[in-house]
Amino acid sequence: MKDRINQLLQEVNQLVAANQEELETLRIKYLSKKGEVSSLFNDFRHVANEEKREVGQLLNELKNAAQDKITELKEAFSGSADSDQKTDLTRSADPVKLGTRHPLSLVKREIIDIFSHIGFTIAEGPEIEDDWHVFGALNFAPEHPARDMQDTFFIEQNPDVLLRTHTSSVQSRIMADQEPPIRKLFPGRVFRNEAISARAHCFFHQVEGLYIDKDVSFADLKQALMYFAKEMFGAKTEIRLRPSYFPFTEPSAEMDISCNLCGGKGCSFCKHTGWVEILGCGMVDPNVLENCGIDSNVYSGYAFGMGVERITNLKYQVKDLRMFSENDVRFLEQFESAH
Ligand code: DAH
Repeated sequence: MKDRINQLLQEVNQLVAANQEELETLRIKYLSKKGEVSSLFNDFRHVANEEKREVGQLLNELKNAAQDKITELKEAFSGSADSDQKTDLTRSADPVKLGTRHPLSLVKREIIDIFSHIGFTIAEGPEIEDDWHVFGALNFAPEHPARDMQDTFFIEQNPDVLLRTHTSSVQSRIMADQEPPIRKLFPGRVFRNEAISARAHCFFHQVEGLYIDKDVSFADLKQALMYFAKEMFGAKTEIRLRPSYFPFTEPSAEMDISCNLCGGKGCSFCKHTGWVEILGCGMVDPNVLENCGIDSNVYSGYAFGMGVERITNLKYQVKDLRMFSENDVRFLEQFESAH
């Protein structure tokens, strides 16, 4: 019996287990009810009385050694699982995802870039404006419907303080401030009191252009806009100018480009006309020049204004205006590779 105990003691001290399963098999082999240690305890009653003390001590020693060993192995396993989760210094770092530029920013930059090649530089004006800069200087009659409460957001019921409804307001600021020649682009956000839907929003973005010098003609305007359309939408793009009306330009026009989806053949996007409207323009009304302190007998000029959302829709076929301001990453991520 003593030999058997000593043999088991040696065995137990050298136990190794490769995984939790092996460890469990060892536990059953030595420590379960029918295991080696228990069966020795069962045999204990056959030990001669004079040996009982010595064998009893040995048996307890074996039992403790087996328990200690199994616990030690168990701790080694849970320890290694733990350290796995902590820090593995050899692991490569998670890639950091770079943000993307907003599609409206991409298009705005492209517009600015195109016009910068023909000498336009940028100026900005305030979003909160007064009536004179937004309407008065730009030849809007006092009763003009655009001043109506329906369209314009007024600040604190004061009819003279409002959110600009168009970036043409920056025209009045620059003309009142600077001597011609003026060749400027005014990008910015504008606000209108509209119900929000897929096709209208209470705020959107425009880029306005203004060129004032001696002898500026409608042909100059047309040339600049044709250059822009071809740069923006491709060399095959054609333009057409339709007569229109704006209080601050005379004559006024709206510009269409040949539909960039069907190439002018006619599709549902261009309502089967082959043309899509992209901006308003015209020769600066002499009244506007005079309102801003520029001599209309010496100077003339042209102006144009376009919606950045509109151009972006045409370039990327974004159907719902609201997507531009919802900040849904699934939408924004798609512009990752653009520029
Ligand atoms: N301000 C006009 C609008 O918001 C757009 C516009 C039309 C601007 C003609 C111009 C222009 O400079 O000449 O609808």
